[in-house]
Amino acid sequence: MEALGASSVPSFHIRTILDKTKLRRPMFLNLHSNPTPSSTFSLVYKKQSKFKVFNTMSSTVSTEPTNPPEPVLETHSQGEKFDWYSQWYPIMPIWDLDKRRPHAKKVIGLDVVVWWDRNEETWKVFDDRCPHRLAPLSEGRIDQWGRLQCVYHGWCFNGSGDCKFIPQANPDGPPVHTAKKACVAVYPSTVQNNIVWFWPNLDPRYKDILVEKKPPYIPEIDDPSYASLMGNRDIPYGYEILIENLMDPAHLPYAHHGILEILPSKNR
Ligand code: FES
Repeated sequence: MEALGASSVPSFHIRTILDKTKLRRPMFLNLHSNPTPSSTFSLVYKKQSKFKVFNTMSSTVSTEPTNPPEPVLETHSQGEKFDWYSQWYPIMPIWDLDKRRPHAKKVIGLDVVVWWDRNEETWKVFDDRCPHRLAPLSEGRIDQWGRLQCVYHGWCFNGSGDCKFIPQANPDGPPVHTAKKACVAVYPSTVQNNIVWFWPNLDPRYKDILVEKKPPYIPEIDDPSYASLMGNRDIPYGYEILIENLMDPAHLPYAHHGILEILPSKNR
């Protein structure tokens, strides 16, 4: 997670930048590589002091998802390998999530559903495809027992991805719901800094990845002497474009003309 100093740009300016840029599509963007990116941003500032701007956003690498995804390695100049699918990614601030319904998100090309498992009292991140006929589980509901129920034929899944109920199955027949193929793929996930994070790899060796590696931690978010504001919105371009935009205050009086209170330049 990148921490950007922005002592000259108040928090509401950042919001305005996002509003504006959302509507304008830079001409040099390759939108095909980034169908529906999602960004979570967090503004953190010390009360009565300087503040920091943090960006926690999903990557927008162009990759066709597989199940589990193949390692996507990028070679850095030092010869170091970077696997995009072996990292923690923020999905949403928890206060933007409604515990009563599932939420669809797309992160680094993966469609996931985030939902509150009240039996385990934790947020879960599943592959957003029902194992039956691939209906999006995010369009389903939480049933009266706190299970995620598919909207299409009503199959129900617990927080471990196990199918617990198939309405059409003969109750006196074989327990077809226990078949491995009836399970949903579950991604490792956790909550840190009031943000739901997930590890976008279904390989069993990452099942307990949280024990070995935690998401990047920002102590200021949990520090009560700081105030913080988080938000989430989908924007039609990659994180690198947004970073460049946030680090470019020179565009503010012109690209946001009439929106921000900015003192006119003394130079003509
Ligand atoms: S597609 Fe989900 S239950 Fe049939």
